[in-house]
Formats: sequence, C-alpha cells, structure tokens
Amino acid sequence: MTDTIAPAQPVDLLSKFDPIIQTREQLLAAGVEDPFNLVMEQVLSPTRAVCNGRDTILLGTYNYMGMTFDPDVIAAGKAAMEDFGAGTTGSRVLNGTFRDHRDVEAALRDFYDMDHAMVFSTGYQANLGIISTLAGKGDYIILDIDSHASIYDGCAMGKAEVVPFKHNDVEALEKRLKRIPEGAGKLVVLEGVYSMMGDVAPLREMVRIAKENGAMVLVDEAHSMGFIGEHGRGVAEEQGVLDDVDFIIGTFSKSVGTVGGFCVSNHPKFEVLRLVCRPYVFTAALPPSVMASSAASIRKLMHGGNKRAHLWENSRTLHQGLRDLGFKLGTETPQSAIIAVIMPDLEKGAMMWEALLKEGLYVNLARPPATPAGMTLLRCSLCAEHSAEQVQTILGMFERAGKAIGII
Ligand SMILES: Cc1ncc(COP(=O)(O)O)c(C=O)c1O
Repeated sequence: MTDTIAPAQPVDLLSKFDPIIQTREQLLAAGVEDPFNLVMEQVLSPTRAVCNGRDTILLGTYNYMGMTFDPDVIAAGKAAMEDFGAGTTGSRVLNGTFRDHRDVEAALRDFYDMDHAMVFSTGYQANLGIISTLAGKGDYIILDIDSHASIYDGCAMGKAEVVPFKHNDVEALEKRLKRIPEGAGKLVVLEGVYSMMGDVAPLREMVRIAKENGAMVLVDEAHSMGFIGEHGRGVAEEQGVLDDVDFIIGTFSKSVGTVGGFCVSNHPKFEVLRLVCRPYVFTAALPPSVMASSAASIRKLMHGGNKRAHLWENSRTLHQGLRDLGFKLGTETPQSAIIAVIMPDLEKGAMMWEALLKEGLYVNLARPPATPAGMTLLRCSLCAEHSAEQVQTILGMFERAGKAIGII
C-alpha cells in the first residue's frame, strides 16, 4: 500500500513581486511595447542593428569605443576558438587558466601600468569577489549611496559594516570616515562615472580624504575605462590620483566590447586573492576566444586617442543639442559618454522610448530601483563609431518624438 501525500498549500515565494508584475501589466495594457524585451534581430555594426525589422541606430549600448566589430578583435577570438576549443570547463585555479587568460592579464597590467591583474567572468563578479574578500567582519565599507548593484551585493556577501554617504558629496564622505572607530579596516568604494546620470566622481578630493583617514580605496571604472583619461585608464587617471587608488575594478562588457571583469592593483599581496576570493575560485573561467578578443581590444585601446577625441565630440554635440531642444538632462555639462534624459514619469518615459524606437533609435529606459531619486531616464550612451551625421539624425529623432509625446 502506498501513502497518499496531501500537499499543504505553499506560501507563494513569488508573491512579493506582485507590485512589479502589476506595474508591468499596466504599462503593456496601455499598448506600449515592452522596453525590457527588445530583440536585436541582426547587428550590422557597433552603431546599427535590425530591431522589429527596422534598421535602428544604437544609442543604448555600452560599446563606447566600438570594439565589437574590430577586425583584429574578431580575428583573435576566432583563432583562439580554433586552437583551444569553445570553453574552459573549469575554474581559473584548476583547469581553467589557458594561455589567453594569462595574456589578457598581461594586457591589463600594460594598459594600467600596474603590477597585478586578475580577470573574473564578469564585472559583477569582480565587485562581488574583491569587495567581499577585502572587507570582512569588523571592517567598514564607506560607499557612495548611488553605487552599482554589484558593489552593494559585494558588501552584502562580505560581512563588513556598510556606511553609505550622499552621492558625490566630499564632506559627507569625510564625516562618515571620521566616525569610524580607530584601528578598524576601512575600504572606500567609489565609481569613476556613475552609469545612471553619466556624472563623474570628484575622485581627487575623495581619494585624498580617504587616504588622510587611513582607508584603502577601490574605484570601479566600468564606464570610464577606454575613454576617459589620456591613456583611457579612467577618471582616476584624468584627475591624477591613479597611483593613490589601491584597487581598480573594471569590465570588458563596455569599452572592451566583450565580456569579463577585472581588478588591477599595485598591492604587493594582491596575488593571494586568487586563492581566497570565492567568485574567482568557484566558477568556470571565460572561454579562451573571449580572452583573446579582450586582450586584442585592450591593446588597441592603448592607442585609441583619436577615437577618444571623437567620442568626446559626439558627447558634447548630443548634450548641447538635447539641451537646446528643451530636454532636461542628468548633468549640466557632458561628463562622459552617457547622457541621461530625465522623463516626467514611467508612462511618459515608456511612450517616449517607443516613439524613438519607431523613429529608428534605440536608447535605454531606466527606472527605479536602478535609478537615483525615483527617476525615469532615457539613457543615451554614445559610441566612438557614431558619425557626426548620425548624431544629427539622433537629435532630429528626439525632436520629433519629444514633440509627439508632449515632453518638449
Ligand atoms: C559600475 C558598474 N560596475 C560593474 C558592472 C558589471 O559589469 P559586467 O557587465 O561585466 O557584469 C556594471 C555593469 O553595468 C557597472 O555599471
């Protein structure tokens, strides 16, 4: 005889997401296309793709330096795939370190002129791993309140006390630092460019204050690597404090044009992190093709001065043009390759997003909790491969869509 099981009614663990489901349903019920479900049917270049059957200008990728279609980057990846196969099937500390993992770390050391480089499977994992491993129980992490989710998740994974301070506020950082008990381990975590508004951190002052108060400093340069600074090393380079930063975090998923994350440092004990950093140890290493493409891209970015200059030109033109049209922008001046256009609310933002898509322009729709102060944003991220004509075309599209939706 078999026992019959009378299942108890489970508590639905997904019911906590009901408000999100409702907001989404309301949005779609208004007939707006789902802004979080767009498919690129074909990618034609770093700045153009076919979306919904239409040739679309891409103004919402992180392909700042346009390296995704660079012939050398593609050729390096193809050759490594032929020679080493499709994947590594193992952790970096076991069978997952191939020639190209070593080579990309060498490329990073050269790029930053630093002693050590450690590559992770994503930038998310780099923050998760480095932050949680550096700052543990009894230590303090002092971070900008608008920090990226991967920074917060790194804090949650380690067990340090987390002390947020007001966004980009130098005095608030100093006040927080002064309240931390004498002798405690302190890690100040900053970003070069904040990805939602595209604004830059006052790293010169912040790094000085952190050092005066006995803290180590980590700067996430995800959105500045490759573009900002004379050699593209980021905001820390631009503001002359790179030598005082203890750890730089970065990603390959933006200017490098591939996927992967990294940390570079001059700390003499840095290499021990390879043995103790769980998001490095307990996951498979990236495919060699990705590593070879990344190394080729990083080496080319070292000589990307002309591209950087053109990208600045694009950023200035778009910023000025959108202002002149009457749009409200996230920053007074162009500070990076990201220009955030502030929308009155989510509904208008989604309508504007869709109107732009119909015009043949893709931008990112960003909304809380990813954005600061509950804002809905249309985030424009420029590419060094956008031509001056494309930027003018983009401005025309914004003008028509903005007038049709009633935003300008
Ligand atoms: C500031 C910042 N750090 C880290 C990451 C994570 O990078 P990845 O895409 O490589 O996981 C991002 C990605 O959006 C980011 O904006």
